[in-house]
Amino acid sequence: MKNSEKTILVLGGTGKTGRRVMEGLKARGLSVRGGSRSSEPPFDWNDPTTWAPVLENVEAVYVVYSLDPTAPTATDTIRSFAGQAAQAGVQRLVFLSGRGDEAAQPCEQAIRESGLGWTILRASWFDQNFSEDFLCGAVLSGEVALPVGAVGEPFIDVEDIAEVAIAALTEEAHAGHVYELTGPRLLTFAQAVEEIAEIAGVPVRFTEITLEQFTAGLMAQQVPAEFVGLAAYLFGELLDGRNSSVTGDVEHVLGRPARDFSEYVRKTAATRVWQAQG
Ligand SMILES: NC(=O)c1ccc[n+]([C@@H]2O[C@H](COP(=O)([O-])OP(=O)(O)OC[C@H]3O[C@@H](n4cnc5c(N)ncnc54)[C@H](OP(=O)(O)O)[C@@H]3O)[C@@H](O)[C@H]2O)c1
Repeated sequence: MKNSEKTILVLGGTGKTGRRVMEGLKARGLSVRGGSRSSEPPFDWNDPTTWAPVLENVEAVYVVYSLDPTAPTATDTIRSFAGQAAQAGVQRLVFLSGRGDEAAQPCEQAIRESGLGWTILRASWFDQNFSEDFLCGAVLSGEVALPVGAVGEPFIDVEDIAEVAIAALTEEAHAGHVYELTGPRLLTFAQAVEEIAEIAGVPVRFTEITLEQFTAGLMAQQVPAEFVGLAAYLFGELLDGRNSSVTGDVEHVLGRPARDFSEYVRKTAATRVWQAQG
């Protein structure tokens, strides 16, 4: 950073990507501030009065919008936050978006129109959904049942997303770029689960179910309606093959290929997160 007194704000700093962005920036000796409901000061997308304190003395922001990007309020909220960031003297926004996600386009547009330097990271499905998010319990239960067929998805390791985000937050060269971040290989969900079973030695199998069965199952588990709607959108619309290709954007930014899914599985198996509790 040119101005050593300024800090980098990482929204979603306790989440899958944000936590790693925080760690990577700190490891580079940079000043970092986390922004989420549990940070101090707290940041809540739903409460604009919490925005000004976290934006104080900030040069760049990693923007993770944690709520449903398909919600009608998402774009206005992001536009309003970007406006406040500009007024507070922020110079650069790095926005985590979804690849092929038409619902996220208006949110991206709000970032581009902020008048600040911007980089958009359109990520494909995270490897870590199997270990740090809603699919971890399914792996532990022995069955990953999802409403998705033989569609190839270029699963990406969030470690790579975090490294790209760090580059975009700290290097001018990435301003004005949209990166499509994918892993190096297409896998169907069935193949991904098979690799977890084989490489990690976990007794888990994949079952294809209907979207109706999937949403009914989530509702039976009293999953919040917001998440059920988002999951239905992701599986009902996004996984139609539109993202069945890999890009070289991770390698372009980092100068090395994206991490393979098998590397993620090996590393995650070593943490024992997929071992049943005895
Ligand atoms: N999962 C995927 O495969 C995938 C693929 C492409 C794009 N994405 C995008 O990735 C984003 C999620 O990023 P992630 O996976 O790194 O995060 P995450 O692991 O889902 O964690 C969510 C983060 O947001 C914070 N948060 C939740 N509600 C909040 C609120 N109301 N106000 C402020 N902060 C809040 C949480 O911290 P607190 O609890 O402390 O508030 C946490 O730090 C979403 O926009 C999603 O669309 C995901």
